[in-house]
Amino acid sequence: MDSDLWLECISCHTKFDARKMIYVCEKCGHLLDVNYSNLDRALEGDWKDKPISVWKYSPFLPKLEHVISLNEGKTNLYHCINLSDKLGIDNLWVKNEGENPTGSFKDRGMTVGVSVAKSLGSNIVACASTGNTSASLAAYAAKAKITCVVFIPSGKIALGKLAQAMMYGAFVLAIKGNFDEALELVQESCERFHMYLLNSLNPYRLEGQKTIGYEIVDQLNWDVPEAIILPVGNAGNISAIYKGLLEWKKIGLIDKIPRMIGIQAEGSAPIANAYKKGDKDVTFVEKPETVATAIRIGKPVNWEKALRAIYGSPKGMAETVSDEEILEAQKTLARTEGIFVEPASASSIAGLKKLIDDGKIERDERVVCVTTGHGLKDPDTAIKSCEKPIQVEADIEEIEKILSKIMRKTMNAYAV
Ligand code: F0G
Repeated sequence: MDSDLWLECISCHTKFDARKMIYVCEKCGHLLDVNYSNLDRALEGDWKDKPISVWKYSPFLPKLEHVISLNEGKTNLYHCINLSDKLGIDNLWVKNEGENPTGSFKDRGMTVGVSVAKSLGSNIVACASTGNTSASLAAYAAKAKITCVVFIPSGKIALGKLAQAMMYGAFVLAIKGNFDEALELVQESCERFHMYLLNSLNPYRLEGQKTIGYEIVDQLNWDVPEAIILPVGNAGNISAIYKGLLEWKKIGLIDKIPRMIGIQAEGSAPIANAYKKGDKDVTFVEKPETVATAIRIGKPVNWEKALRAIYGSPKGMAETVSDEEILEAQKTLARTEGIFVEPASASSIAGLKKLIDDGKIERDERVVCVTTGHGLKDPDTAIKSCEKPIQVEADIEEIEKILSKIMRKTMNAYAV
């Protein structure tokens, strides 16, 4: 790692060596940012002409001895005409992060985070996870040939994610508690047993994740959208995207910051609750609940950075959605645009619908919803929320009866 970057406390602004394995300020305990001295040097580089990917934006990332990559990033930005018609908005794009190598945006954070771990000489990494972080860390650790230990809330993560962590060879500790408890335990374990922590508390993870915002702007030909809407759980992603775009604005690559809009599930909404009260502080939720297991989080570690994004971006905001609204939005996105996302991801679409209906997003705002994880991660929830398959005898007469019913039904639907 070269000397033009350092870790800096977001509260007391104490600076620390970039190679120091710390996750919070040693003086006051607040969160850390990775800061750089010479970002404007990037204005001269030819990186802008390269195809999009996380490492395209390396002038804005730490320079490392080892880079562990699985070809992450470069996810599609879909212009969703069918869905925008349905919701009553002129321009809507979906940035589909489920297209990453392990099926979620976490891969952007892990390519940087695990590269830092390897470059700092760590040979054991750990995280607590609602599923996606553990799947991603396990894959990148395998590629880096280092040991991986993941702490998951027992019985509370979607099946696809568990299968991934197991298949990539992580040691899986199923903790008899919720995610917030697992996160406290992994933090303590990392301190005691010198493992490198790769939750989003680790500021290098967020450096990788800020490339979501970079790709969105790049894919829109440098025309910054009015709003970016995304689900919020541990609150790293919203903080990361905001930080990245702020860095671009500071050096004049873009001239405005989008509204940063965070969506939480009603039963797990400490940040949206704080925003609605206009608070600068967050009251944690002791027993978070939601069908969107990825964001079933009551004590988001990055709450302070998330509020900075929400209050700091022009007309930034946070909203809550119910489980019913999430599941409905998941189906609507799949059935209008052919994009299958996991429930947590669909909360961004559910939030958009609610905000349009409430007049909080104008029809002519150019909006990007980030869908964070692939639908196949959580097949159980999908199967439960859809109509059952039609059981039929292996007989052409029987099939004819059913098909004619389907045809009558769909012709009527098209005729309307
Ligand atoms: N969407 C998905 C699919 C996620 O897996 C997560 C977080 C989020 C949204 C929220 O992102 O935490 O940056 O606000 N999943 C973590 C995990 C907590 O362990 O996989 P955030």
